[in-house]
This record gives sequence, structure tokens and C-alpha cells, in this order.
Amino acid sequence: MSNESPSRRFAAVVLAAGQGTRMKSALPKVLHEIAGRPMVCWPVEAALDAGAERVVVVLGHGKEQVEAALRDAFGDRVDTALQAERRGTGHAVQCAMPALADYDGPIVILYGDVPLIEPEAVAALVDARGDAPLSLLTCRAADPSGYGRILREDGEVSGIREHKDCSAEQLAIDEINPGLYAAGAEFLRGALDGLSDDNSQGELYLTDIVEPAAKSGGARGVDWPLESLQGVNDRAQLAEAAAVMRRRVATRHARAGVTIRDLSRVDIDHAVTIGTDAILEPGVVLRGDTTIGADAHVDVGCVVTDSTIDAGAYLKPYSVVSESHVGERAQVGPFSHLRPGSVMKTESKIGNFVEMKKTVLGEGSKASHLAYLGDGRIERDVNIGAGTIFCNYDGVQKHLTVLEEGCFIGSDSQLVAPITVGKGAYVGTGTTVTKNVPADALAVGRAKQQNKEGYAPRLRSRMQARAKAAKEAKSKG
Ligand code: UD1
Ligand code: CA
Repeated sequence: MSNESPSRRFAAVVLAAGQGTRMKSALPKVLHEIAGRPMVCWPVEAALDAGAERVVVVLGHGKEQVEAALRDAFGDRVDTALQAERRGTGHAVQCAMPALADYDGPIVILYGDVPLIEPEAVAALVDARGDAPLSLLTCRAADPSGYGRILREDGEVSGIREHKDCSAEQLAIDEINPGLYAAGAEFLRGALDGLSDDNSQGELYLTDIVEPAAKSGGARGVDWPLESLQGVNDRAQLAEAAAVMRRRVATRHARAGVTIRDLSRVDIDHAVTIGTDAILEPGVVLRGDTTIGADAHVDVGCVVTDSTIDAGAYLKPYSVVSESHVGERAQVGPFSHLRPGSVMKTESKIGNFVEMKKTVLGEGSKASHLAYLGDGRIERDVNIGAGTIFCNYDGVQKHLTVLEEGCFIGSDSQLVAPITVGKGAYVGTGTTVTKNVPADALAVGRAKQQNKEGYAPRLRSRMQARAKAAKEAKSKG
């Protein structure tokens, strides 16, 4: 989404120094994830998407970790500033100003813990300011407690009163300050210099810039829905914000041509890409750096992490795919597991209860039931019978199993790696393969079967007599 316009120049300051004690977490609050990325990345991206020329994030608590997360997501597109001690929101913005010393355009202030803010809201804020010193978002809240209240005179915003500083009458005001502003640079510098900590919390309140703005040209309020302005202070609010974001991401994909059966029952991380006419059934989770190709079908309950699923592939219900590649029109599951390093080539197939790890399954090859394929290289058109196990681990090292083109592995076979079954060879059912099988050979390695005529009734009566004797011995004590 891009709202860039040549006439809309601005810089953004994102406040992210707070500890977030109510999260009750060792992780800094702004690093808790929403749709697979740290919360603070969302407002930063909203600012960039709306056309911010510069973004300065104010760090404090957990600064190294937060800085690293920002670098990871945005490289050098964001600057950081340090607020060494938390002396309030006004002080936090003061700390960002040296990084914008040479900047004369408008400055937008966002919060790192208000992740649902859209680029449209940032753009509306910048555009509404016009030539006034300040604009701010405002909104109606059914429960305004905790928020700063918007004070108005003759309909115009005249100031903000913090909850803790409100009179009984002011507490009844349901128009609140979500905490997002756009200010002229010169006005902001002057207003920040004029802040004092003469209030109930002894902090420098950023909200105290509103009154001087109102007196010197106006503070323009922009009404915006509360849903995208919800702050995250604890993990219940984190889950609520994540639910809103989840639905937004799903809706974006649906609008782009993906069939999503239930928009609120898929969980798609922000970086996932999905081709047109792909189908996602309920309960699908797509994580990290995942790509789903056009026409692919991801059925109920599948979890796909850092993987590529090519066009037309079918992941049947409850399959789990991690760091793997499923080729075009390949089929997986139900109930199968591709662990890291698995590659399924075009039109290959694994059926129920198959586990793969670091294994390539060649074009058109199949393992339809109950198999473990670990550390394998399987060429094309190989058929692997039910219950086949690649015995890849000797307790110390992992070894490779190679199945050459067109070979056939009978059910319930064990392939003790390192081992190669040659092109077109045949492994008889129930064989433990410990020696390489040459091309076109048949390997059978099971004990010869004998049938003893009439033996079963005698065996049964002997076992029954033994059971009766044991029972009698027990009852005699
Ligand atoms: C602030 C507003 C309040 C508004 C509310 C919306 C002020 C004085 N009050 O109150 O009007 O309704 O947000 O959620 O601005 N931060 C720092 N350094 C600090 C203090 C805060 O970086 O020294 C950051 C926090 O990490 C957080 C944001 O600023 O991201 C808001 O701080 P918080 O303490 O939650 O402000 P509130 O008291 O909720
Ligand atoms: Ca807050």
C-alpha cells in the first residue's frame, strides 16, 4: 500500500522506550509479535508506507534487542534515539529531536505499542494539519478510563487532560487521546522546550503541547475508529490486537484472489505470499517466510513454516511442513510431516503418517503410507511401500539412503544407511537391507516360512492349561 505523494513530506518519531511491566515478560513489550513480527515494526511500517522520509524510534528498555529487531526488519531505513530514563512521553520526544535537528517538515509521533495504526491514519493526520501547528487523532471510547481526555472549546480541541489529573466532570468525557500527533517542526521544538513535570505523575507529558497549539493557530482533531488505535499493555490486549491484524492480513489475501473459507480462522504471518486461486481451509497457519503457489490447496489444520509450496500442490488435512519445498502438484498427507530440508519434486506424493527429513523425493515418486524417510535421495518414479524406514542414524552419525530411479521398496522394509538401491531394483516386503542392491536386482532378506499342519489347536490348549495352573496357584495363596 502506498500513500506517497510529493506534497506530503514528513518524518516520524515512534516511542518505544517503555518497559511494559503489565506484559509480565522478560521480552521488551514492543518485541512481542503480531502476525509474526515484533509489534514495533507495525507502526514503523505504517509511517514508511504513508511516505515518511525519516523514522526515528526512541529506545530505552531492552534497547539492544529492539534495535536489532528494527535493523533486521528495516535495515538503515530507520534511525534510533536513546531515552536513558523514562521521564514521560514528552521527554521521549525530546530525546528524538537531535536526530531530526536538520529536519524542517512536519513530524508525526506514533507509539510502538499501538500496532494496528494504518498508513491511511498517518496520512490523514499529516493532511489534516494544513498550516496549523498541530493535528491529532481523537476517538470515542465506550470505556475511556486510563486514557487522556480531549478537551474542547467551541467544538475545537483545546487541550488534553490525563486520566489521573481529571476532575469528576472531565472523567465523564468519552472522547479520548489515542496519542498520535503531527506537528510543525518549529512549533514542536518550542513546545517541547516549554514542558514541565508539574503534574500528578511528575513526568513531562507530550499531551501538554496541545494547549499551546490550540492557542497559536489550532490543534486539528481527526476522528478515527478506536479499533486501529488500541494500545497493547498486557497480553490479553496483545491477543486482541493480533486477532484484528490476523483478519486484516487474511482479508488482504482474499481481496488479492485467494479463497479463504473463513477469514477469522487462518493465521498468516505478514511476510507470507500466496498465489491466486490458492485455497486455504479453516485452521491453516502459515508462518515466517512462506510462499504458497497459485492453485495450491492447503487443507484443514495444516501448519507451514518457512517453506515453499508450488503451484497446484495439495496439503491434505493436519500436515506440518517446515523449512521444506513441495513441488508442483505434489501431494502431502493427511497427517504427514515434512521436517527441515525436505524437497518433494513435481507430482511426488506422500500419504498418511509419513515423516520426511533432509530428503529429496523425486518426480512422481510415492510413499503412500506410514514411512520414515530421513537423509535420503530418492530419484524419480520410486515406489516406497507402507511402513518403510530409513535407518539413518547409528547412534553417532547420520547416513544417506539413495533410491535410484524406478526402484521398488516393498512394505515394511528397513534400509540401513549408508545404502543404495540401484535403478529398477526390487526390495522384497519385510527385508532389512544392509548391503547395496545392484540395478535391476531383487533383494529379499527374510527368514524362510514353514507351515506346521494342525499345530495351532495343540498350541492353544497348551497355553490355556498353563493359564489355568497359574490362576489356581494364585488362589491357593
Ligand atoms: C499516553 C497519553 C494519554 C493517552 C495514552 C494512549 C501522555 C502524557 N499521555 O498515556 O493521553 O490517552 O497514551 O495510550 O502522553 N514512552 C516512552 N518513554 C516514556 C514514557 C512513555 O517511550 O518516558 C512510550 C511508551 O513505551 C509507550 C508510549 O510512550 O509506547 C505511551 O506511554 P504510556 O506510559 O503508556 O502513556 P500513557 O500513560 O498510557
Ligand atoms: Ca499506554
